[in-house]
Amino acid sequence: MSLLEVRDLRVTYPGGAAAVRGAGLTLAAGEKLGVAGESGCGKSTLALALLRLLPAGARVGGEILLDGEDVLAMKWGRVRAVRWAGASIVFQGAMHSLNAVHRVGDQIAEPILLHRRATAAGARKRTGELLEQVGLPAARARAYPHELSGGQRQRVMIAMALACEPRLIVADEPTTALDVMIQAQILRLIEGLVGEQDVGLIMISHDLAVLADTCDRLAVMYAGRIVEEGPARQVYEDALHPYGRALSGAFPRIGDPGSRFAPRGLPGDPPDPAAVPSGCAFHPRCPVALDVCATEDQPLREAGADRRAACVHVGSDAGTPLPGNEASGGTPSARDEEVRSRTS
Ligand SMILES: Nc1ncnc2c1ncn2[C@@H]1O[C@H](COP(=O)(O)OP(=O)(O)O)[C@@H](O)[C@H]1O
Ligand code: SF4
Ligand SMILES: [Mg+2]
Repeated sequence: MSLLEVRDLRVTYPGGAAAVRGAGLTLAAGEKLGVAGESGCGKSTLALALLRLLPAGARVGGEILLDGEDVLAMKWGRVRAVRWAGASIVFQGAMHSLNAVHRVGDQIAEPILLHRRATAAGARKRTGELLEQVGLPAARARAYPHELSGGQRQRVMIAMALACEPRLIVADEPTTALDVMIQAQILRLIEGLVGEQDVGLIMISHDLAVLADTCDRLAVMYAGRIVEEGPARQVYEDALHPYGRALSGAFPRIGDPGSRFAPRGLPGDPPDPAAVPSGCAFHPRCPVALDVCATEDQPLREAGADRRAACVHVGSDAGTPLPGNEASGGTPSARDEEVRSRTS
């Protein structure tokens, strides 16, 4: 059985923003899955939904099976027990997630006391061990959050996430607020701890390169959907979906004949979730869109061994490489001609 299975997850905020529109994910125990996408694509909403942390009034549909048990169907008492002990979350801004007026040691000890029924002395001991595990001296337990650097605070957050030995950790942009050197340290730390303890990891970032370095598999999210999924290095180095290609900066360089892809990045922004375009939601920005893309929704399709993508150019009957992606094989077809005519 998978550690986590998310099926057709839908989240709509009050006011009508459909932030997640039918996302699916599978995670095996001990597996590291990266979720990538620009700001506004629904990554944090997905993360919050996994632990039932969405604001009141958000409508949620679909299934979130954690060890086979549907998180969305759990009673509140069960949800509280599962948070921390079953699955825990590391957020981006540690300063906002830590309580400024309590010592960090007390904050790490709190879930231990609550969920593991430890004695005060036992929780103190475990807190010291956790701090050392994340590379901080045990004595830092007495520090207040403002006495620590950004990197140290993020280490404290990771110690808190590990406190009750969860089976799943969700890390939402855990290093985005940190400088590059500290970012690398924290990523190595998370990777190491997760590897040692056979914990499942969902790591969320807008940075595909960071994820490709840290994770086994990658899922690319656009406008509330997973549009591509597969082994991390393959998705990073040879994305099948035009959006995945844009994120990885894998578009052909300027001057490359036969295509007019941007060399890096894409014009425009992800759509407003209250007004998602019809058909493939990416079509207004897609350099290889066909006429059907404006009207026909594209489901995730099998696209080779262990890979899936939601694009009209990808799938069993397509056989058509994306422009600039010819190395991956395929036969020229009428559709191929159509693509070329739109991109040259
Ligand atoms: N509490 C909220 N109420 C209404 N809309 C929200 C709320 N939180 C997020 N959104 C909207 O949902 C969309 C997805 O947001 P989010 O999940 O934070 O994306 P990401 O983490 O990928 O940047 C955005 O358009 C955002 O404005
Ligand atoms: S389905 Fe069409 S619009 Fe969507 S990514 Fe593929 S080519 Fe572009
Ligand atoms: Mg976010």
